[in-house]
Amino acid sequence: MGIAISPFQIDPRVADYIDKPRKMLINGKWVNAASGKTFPSYNPATGEVLAQVAEADREDINQAVKAARKAFDQGPWRRMTASERGRLVWKLADLLDKNIEEFAYLESLDNGKPLTIAKAADVPLTVDLFRYMAGWATKIEGNTIPISVPYTPGAKYLAYTLKEPVGVVGQIIPWNFPLLMAAWKLGPALATGCTVVLKPAEQTPLSALRLGELIMEAGFPDGVVNIVPGYGETAGAALAAHPDVDKIAFTGSTEVGKLIVHAATGNLKKVSLELGGKSPNVVFKDADLDAAIPGSASAIFFNHGQCCCAGSRLYVEKPIFDRVVEGVAEHAKKIKVGAGLDPETQMGPLVSEEQLNRVCSYLESGFSQGATALSGGHKAADKGYFVEPTVLVNTREDMKVVQEEIFGPVVTAMPFEDPEEIVLRSNDSDYGLAAAVWTRDISKAHRMAEHLRAGTVWINCYNIFDAALPFGGYKQSGWGREMGHDVLQLYTQTKAVCTRLA
Ligand code: NAI
Ligand code: MG
Repeated sequence: MGIAISPFQIDPRVADYIDKPRKMLINGKWVNAASGKTFPSYNPATGEVLAQVAEADREDINQAVKAARKAFDQGPWRRMTASERGRLVWKLADLLDKNIEEFAYLESLDNGKPLTIAKAADVPLTVDLFRYMAGWATKIEGNTIPISVPYTPGAKYLAYTLKEPVGVVGQIIPWNFPLLMAAWKLGPALATGCTVVLKPAEQTPLSALRLGELIMEAGFPDGVVNIVPGYGETAGAALAAHPDVDKIAFTGSTEVGKLIVHAATGNLKKVSLELGGKSPNVVFKDADLDAAIPGSASAIFFNHGQCCCAGSRLYVEKPIFDRVVEGVAEHAKKIKVGAGLDPETQMGPLVSEEQLNRVCSYLESGFSQGATALSGGHKAADKGYFVEPTVLVNTREDMKVVQEEIFGPVVTAMPFEDPEEIVLRSNDSDYGLAAAVWTRDISKAHRMAEHLRAGTVWINCYNIFDAALPFGGYKQSGWGREMGHDVLQLYTQTKAVCTRLA
């Protein structure tokens, strides 16, 4: 007890949890790093150290992979029925459901996001994801296949496929939705019967570690889930390169995604990647502007713009450009920026000093190339990592702020004149994660949906996520899909079995 994050009182369970250094979870035990080292996790609202956490490095990764390997190859996990496996995942969801408040506090403190949002979105979405995946455990099926075999005339066969878990999975996740990203990765791995070594982001390790306690409480066998917090260049790189890991699943920057692909070549482990984005949000002149204006504001400002799918390129049809852009800027000016624990807060700080500096340097780059801000444009406080919600105009396609992922509350707004042109401009990006269209013309909306090269297209809405809806990227936004039944493909492999009957 005793950590006061003034002026807001923190939940006593959370205060207790962060009061002592947190250990890592390897083979069902909470252990210190082999090196004895710890690293700090910061409170982004104050820049102060929030908690100390055991720092995994190569040796800890080796131990965690060994435990996951043993749990996969020899443990009770593989002998469980699909129903038993599904019930464990469901139980984990129930345990989390009972602790929504506590997890929301932890998430808000460690990541900076508003407590109200963590309570309404991050934690409930996590519970729902686990329940959705729990249901899949009993529904992963192969096929029976009629085969003809021309070179064995008259022979009869029984041929079928088995869908088997891919094995030991290394999972490396980011800091923008720390708990939810853990669930997107753990849910399908556990439903399909894999074992896991999960490395949370160094900026936000706390909720994944607390989730580890619930995983053990739910009754998952030792070694099925190992959680090893640490830095990317050390723990992350060791996990990605490990020869006993069968698959690596990564969410983060495109730059590191490419490093993961290289690291995976040693044993040709399977790779899935959910990477960056620079998503176009297109508003046509026939749109319902009462929905499109707040929708476009929330497309960029939700989670402080720290969303891989943020609607960061706003394109508005010329006749309504001023109205829409001024409307979005009005929304931006009204957003209450503050500490996540403040119940009035609508936007918290960015996650880290590094992200603050990165976003501010993008703003400087935009201004130096001639962009102007209709709202915001600056760092928002002396303490903590706050940035003002920013709408940039007078931007051109070739500017860095229009081309690159900023990952902060900064949108660039530009007019367009015809639908053909806007498809080309929307698709003129290395990324292809998401896109949105606002129009009352349903034919136009679906034509746009067909032509936009993105893994998700939202029509008259933005940031709608569901455990049943696959999410992932075209182009350099990634390989494979998270959620839905699509993700199960990434955690299973097909075995063909052929029996000669006669
Ligand atoms: P990052 O890609 O460095 O970090 C994401 C995860 O990868 C963390 O767990 C980190 O420890 C790990 N990692 C870093 N280097 C690694 C390596 N060499 N081998 C294995 N794992 C490694 O992202 P960072 O630096 O936190 O943010 C930089 C930019 O990345 C952001 O500004 C944003 O543009 C993008 N990003 C995208 C995310 C997404 O959801 N697609 C999430 C976070 C960041
Ligand atoms: Mg932190």
